[in-house]
Amino acid sequence: MDFIRKKICLSVFLFFHVCFITADAALNVSTIPFSDGFSHLFGEGNILHATDDKSLQLHLNQRTGSGFKSSDLYTHGFFSAKIKLPSDYTAGIVVAFYTTNGDLFTKTHDELDFEFLGNIRGKAWRFQTNMYGNGSTSRGREERYYLWFDPSKEFHRYSILWTIKNIIFYIDDVPIREIVRNDAMGGDYPSKPMGLYATIWDASDWATSGGKYKTNYKYAPFIAEFTDLVLNGCAMDPLEQVVNNPSCDEKDDELQKADFSRITPRQRMAMKRFRSKYMYYSYCYDSLRYSVPPPECEIDHVEQQHFKETGRLKFNKHGHHRHAKRTRSQVLDARNHGNQDEE
Ligand SMILES: *[C@@H]1O[C@H](CO)[C@@H](O)[C@H](O)[C@H]1NC(C)=O
Ligand SMILES: *[C@@H]1O[C@H](CO)[C@@H](O)[C@H](O)[C@H]1NC(C)=O
Repeated sequence: MDFIRKKICLSVFLFFHVCFITADAALNVSTIPFSDGFSHLFGEGNILHATDDKSLQLHLNQRTGSGFKSSDLYTHGFFSAKIKLPSDYTAGIVVAFYTTNGDLFTKTHDELDFEFLGNIRGKAWRFQTNMYGNGSTSRGREERYYLWFDPSKEFHRYSILWTIKNIIFYIDDVPIREIVRNDAMGGDYPSKPMGLYATIWDASDWATSGGKYKTNYKYAPFIAEFTDLVLNGCAMDPLEQVVNNPSCDEKDDELQKADFSRITPRQRMAMKRFRSKYMYYSYCYDSLRYSVPPPECEIDHVEQQHFKETGRLKFNKHGHHRHAKRTRSQVLDARNHGNQDEE
């Protein structure tokens, strides 16, 4: 089986990149019904539930976007959902799947993000991951990537693991980014309890080509579908004093021992392949923004050669069109948003 898979991978690898989906066995997770762990966040009328209480749709139309959140906050956890993104013309649209405590800690919030960025018809969805800790909003840690599949065609599982030691972003069973905590990061490493959020909204002012392509409501409603939700962490009721933490030691132990906390050699290979093929922006290589890379950055000097001082790839590996030249002010403007795109 393994042997056959490798052969298939080798023969079609260059064209289809299908090997990424075979990094290992599927993640071992237990899902919970929506009403057991979640509530509506906004856009009530635009949230449609399936009768099985496992799946729901978030709609965006001219009136509003929509979103849901976990009812509890968690001190460390594994947060996950299968998601299918809107298809067709999706410029200006952002679907976000993230953990935060911004409602409680407005000045010192923590946050871990997947943000999916829509595109004009015929162009692929892109996405970014990011981290903030203790209100470090002036120190964005964005990485941006293409996907190796069309996320509007079928469901894929997107997961965020947050432990005392590390953070791992997963797509299906492929770890796409790992942040290993170190003392130099200080409060920038998320430490206060966070809830899980999912939203769809109109980000016409920046999402696609720096705001060049706006959301076109001729194609509304835009629908993001969610199913098989996972909330696995040390829960606390947000109405209770979050400073009086119950002990999360036991749950922390359990999380760190779980399969999803261990990256197998095979998964590490898949992560490396993903990052070398699909990552097109990294804050770690953005020397205009950070003359000294933030302390968690592991600078790979071979990889670094592929990136410009703006943190973006020098060469396009995917046959997407790129503009040869950008003005200095365009670069700076895009950098300020941390959301620059060249398409
Ligand atoms: C999945 O995880 C559960 C709980 O951590 C464990 O009891 C079970 O043995 C695991 N199943 C597999 C197939 O690894
Ligand atoms: C978090 O930020 C607050 C306010 O800026 C500061 O007082 C506190 O020391 C910070 N905590 C950590 C762990 O850095």
